[in-house]
Amino acid sequence: MKGKEKITILALETSCDETSVAIVQNGRCVISNKIASQIPLHKVYGGVVPEIASRKHVEVINPLIDEALKEANMGFEDMDAVAVAHGPGLVGALLVGVSTAKALAYGLSVPLIGVNHIDGHISANYIENRDLVPPFLCLVVSGGHTYLIMVKDYGKYKILGETRDDAAGEAYDKVARALGLEYPGGPIIDRLAKEGDSTAVHFPRVYMDDNPYDFSFSGLKTAVINHIHNLGQKGEVYNIKDIAASFQQAVIDVLVDKTMLAAQNNSISKIAIAGGVASNAGLRRLMKDRADALGIKLYYPSPIFCTDNAAMVGCAAYYNLLKDKISDLKLNAYPNLEL
Ligand code: KG4
Ligand code: ZN
Repeated sequence: MKGKEKITILALETSCDETSVAIVQNGRCVISNKIASQIPLHKVYGGVVPEIASRKHVEVINPLIDEALKEANMGFEDMDAVAVAHGPGLVGALLVGVSTAKALAYGLSVPLIGVNHIDGHISANYIENRDLVPPFLCLVVSGGHTYLIMVKDYGKYKILGETRDDAAGEAYDKVARALGLEYPGGPIIDRLAKEGDSTAVHFPRVYMDDNPYDFSFSGLKTAVINHIHNLGQKGEVYNIKDIAASFQQAVIDVLVDKTMLAAQNNSISKIAIAGGVASNAGLRRLMKDRADALGIKLYYPSPIFCTDNAAMVGCAAYYNLLKDKISDLKLNAYPNLEL
């Protein structure tokens, strides 16, 4: 297959609350990227309910595969491989994608490629940035993970730092909840922050001595929640936009400071950001300003490729395939799969 001019991969993503199916050619050309978001279903509970997520994936995955093929004007016979995110994520949710991918790969007699979800998020940067090739530094900020990673080659990573408690997206969602906002709170806080004063309240920024690239957001989250409760107890009305802006500034200050420090210490000229929080307008702006000042080129995916999607899985799978990283039919779902 390697000599083929075009390698077409059918990719599945079911690790959390988005069912997604994509058809990707040669890693960077997305022919179809269907996403069925379950957010409206989980909103009433204020977060993702794992059992509901798994059941919805089961209901939606087959029709979504049909839709993706239809949109691409292709049939199963055009697929050269089947890829699936098999971790990290919710085990029951992951299993839906894994079982479907195994059945398809077996039935079509094509290779099966298990992809690490985080590898997918990082690879999302390749889709629209044709000039981006490793090595580069990548900040991964999603609902479940926060990593500062050196991308040495396709699929070859060195983790420089990670969160010691809450992920960046998790902090956004928890603060949003305390402010009475809907799930997921990240995009709402991002919107409110645009109209607020980011200097209104000084929330803590955590910098660790033992590893300057590690993160911690739980203290910040608690500080915001305490601030809201204190004002509430005194019967004071607070300006939600100012709190959103001040919280967001505290998050992006540390994300950008640590990324720039890692870039400078490692003489890096290219930085990428990935994951749901990478679509944050404030983060993109500050990262771009600081990168420009240092002559570093910044890359990020369009918002649709930042949050969970199967195109990123198809992209990562292509580079796995080129390196003969193929799975067998014993492939399993791993909720804590490491990069
Ligand atoms: O990458 P993702 O879709 O799922 C995981 O792998 O976790 O990320 C979802 C997270 C949620 O926490 C959501 O609130 C956050 O990304 N998010 C944002 C924005 N858009 C999504 N956070 C801040 N600003 C945004 N614009
Ligand atoms: Zn994700």
